[in-house]
Amino acid sequence: MAKADVDWSNLGFSYRTISKRYVANFKDGKWGEGVLTEDANIVLNECAGILQYCQEVFEGLKAYTTKDGRIVTFRPDLNAERMEDSAKRLEMPAFPKERFLEAVDQVVAANKDWVPPYGSDASLYLRPYMFASSPVIGVKPAEEYQFRLFGTPVGPYFKGGAKPITLCVSDFDRAAPHGTGHIKAGLNYAMSLHPYVMAHNNGFDENMFLDSATRTYVEETGGANFLFITKDGTVVTPKSGSILPSITRRSLVYLAEHMLGLKVEYRPVKFSELKDFAECGLCGTAAVISPVGKVVGKEETIEFPSGMEKMGPVTQKLYDTLRGIQLGTIEGPEGWIREIK
Ligand code: PLP
Ligand code: COI
Repeated sequence: MAKADVDWSNLGFSYRTISKRYVANFKDGKWGEGVLTEDANIVLNECAGILQYCQEVFEGLKAYTTKDGRIVTFRPDLNAERMEDSAKRLEMPAFPKERFLEAVDQVVAANKDWVPPYGSDASLYLRPYMFASSPVIGVKPAEEYQFRLFGTPVGPYFKGGAKPITLCVSDFDRAAPHGTGHIKAGLNYAMSLHPYVMAHNNGFDENMFLDSATRTYVEETGGANFLFITKDGTVVTPKSGSILPSITRRSLVYLAEHMLGLKVEYRPVKFSELKDFAECGLCGTAAVISPVGKVVGKEETIEFPSGMEKMGPVTQKLYDTLRGIQLGTIEGPEGWIREIK
């Protein structure tokens, strides 16, 4: 299939409407059959649960073209499982895992011309999501829901690609203990927009959020988890009940331990430890691994020894291994790659 007419190597991280998306509705206690549609618009009742009480969860994953020309997705089963967890927390009906995987396959297969070619550093970002579609005015879960999945071709999340970014420590909290920080719900992102705009207005690329109970531990950014590398090459990543369990982070930690022979520590990380680390990166589907050069706190600025020009050496090794698996140049663990026929 001929590729769409796009300057693949110069894409940013933005939305554009492509050919087909998947839709399924939940009504009378069950999910109906899903269909592919060319209609990118949604018509909703004015009192739909999503519009009033923000009942919405979503996922993010990517489809890639491998070096040998196959089209693949990376661990979509984990996105399906996380979306089930997110849905349960917001009292929404889970979209079954097998159906989620079918929807991913169908959307990618129907939009193969929009999957960026190998070597472009771009990918087809897939956004599965689910929202309350029926009216509710008293505060309670809706009775009807819609699951949708669309794709949009994207390049790097941060302008400048692999150039290290600068973060500020946010004055605001992202998630409360026992709240919803561990699920992927739009409401977590709505509350991060004001801090995001503030950070940008002050010249920073992103926020570092600290734990809201004590403001002493590192949590995550608005859209990615943290990885730190100690001076002796150990990978350290924050553990907290209020951050999103990143699939990229879980994968990198596995690769670090099982393929690269690195030591890994998954534990609470104090902000006061940052000055002792050699490298820092953000990891996520959109971010892949974005190196962090500097974190500006209230009282101190941390400049990582890896500097502002390029990724640190251990971060680079992790990045190359992950990208190699996603692009088919490195054999990954069994079941991580799902080929779309
Ligand atoms: N943390 C937040 C808040 C996110 O939005 C994301 C993006 O999905 C991540 C972490 C990274 O998760 P994943 O690697 O599963 O994309
Ligand atoms: C992702 O990495 O898939 C995300 O959802 C992060 C951000 C774009 C919201």
